[in-house]
Amino acid sequence: MSQSASQNPPSRTARLRRSVLSVPAINRRALDKLSSLDCDAVIFDLEDSVSPEKKAEARENLRAFFAASPLPGKERIIRINALSSNFGAEDLALVAELEPDAVLLPKVDEPQDVTDVSDRLTEADAPEDLRIWAMIETPRGVLNAAAIAEAGRTAGSRLDCFVVGLNDLRKETGVLPQPGRTYVVPWLMQVVLAVSAYGLEAIDSVFNDFKDAEAFTAECSQGGAMGFAGKMLIHPSQIEAANRHFGPAEAAIAEAEAIISAFAEPGAGTLNVVNLGGRMVERLHLVQAERLIHKARLIEQRSPGAAAAPRTEA
Ligand code: COA
Ligand code: MG
Repeated sequence: MSQSASQNPPSRTARLRRSVLSVPAINRRALDKLSSLDCDAVIFDLEDSVSPEKKAEARENLRAFFAASPLPGKERIIRINALSSNFGAEDLALVAELEPDAVLLPKVDEPQDVTDVSDRLTEADAPEDLRIWAMIETPRGVLNAAAIAEAGRTAGSRLDCFVVGLNDLRKETGVLPQPGRTYVVPWLMQVVLAVSAYGLEAIDSVFNDFKDAEAFTAECSQGGAMGFAGKMLIHPSQIEAANRHFGPAEAAIAEAEAIISAFAEPGAGTLNVVNLGGRMVERLHLVQAERLIHKARLIEQRSPGAAAAPRTEA
């Protein structure tokens, strides 16, 4: 890989978030498995996968887990219950105590849902780098995605990432699951557009049928092509395909290296467009190429030999 690619790594690709595995905080056996799994990030769920009677026990599990297992190399996110529920305040206090990388807020409807939590974390003296992730899973959340993302730009905002939740969106709207996700694609793209406008990232929704590897792989391929950084997962069997499809393909790495080399040629320093084998390549493609190579490097650092895993889809 070209040396120039590492000089100014763009912030949007600073972390790998190809595979974001959700684990119910009540499930100790699943928690114990995490250190052996090759996912980029883990969401410790205190919300929908934990029954009301088990919320306190789930919090205790997380206390014990965070004390014992730092999970090096994996981003750690705790999904809390809504602050308006009976559990949200205690969940948020736990977040301030455990200091994960981020807290994931369910059913974010409007910018204030994020700023309220940001303010409370600051009041609780949470470190500045404790980020906020937002579930976009309600009709209002999708409609307000741009305004919510924009609020992430205000000083002191901790907003970092959106996660789309199609299960809740389907429940609210009546849109049925269909191959190709025909009717929800406009919403998904609206979320991708919102994060792109304000320098955040978006994670694609979970896929429930974890035994259907073929349909899952197709959805990963689609999510990657849409511009999602990765996918929220529910089962370890989904990690490998997500890592493959949300990482750059072999052909894309070769193409990016060719673009970087073309702009590194003597005399190309003042050119904004070059001819690459009969195709026009602009400086904007150089920026894209550098991002892609940076991501490939991060993957290579994590799992040597895995960056250029061959796959057929674009
Ligand atoms: N994280 C870590 N380990 C997991 C896991 C997860 N999300 N899901 C399953 N496992 C483990 C199981 O504990 C089991 O481990 P073992 O071999 O040591 O017994 C192994 O993977 C195989 O699991 P399997 O028997 O196929 O599934 P299951 O019946 O135990 O669990 C689900 C199926 C769907 C209940 C479970 O995957 C799950 O709870 N997923 C997450 C749900 C969630 O977070 N929902 C909220 C977000 S939508
Ligand atoms: Mg939900």
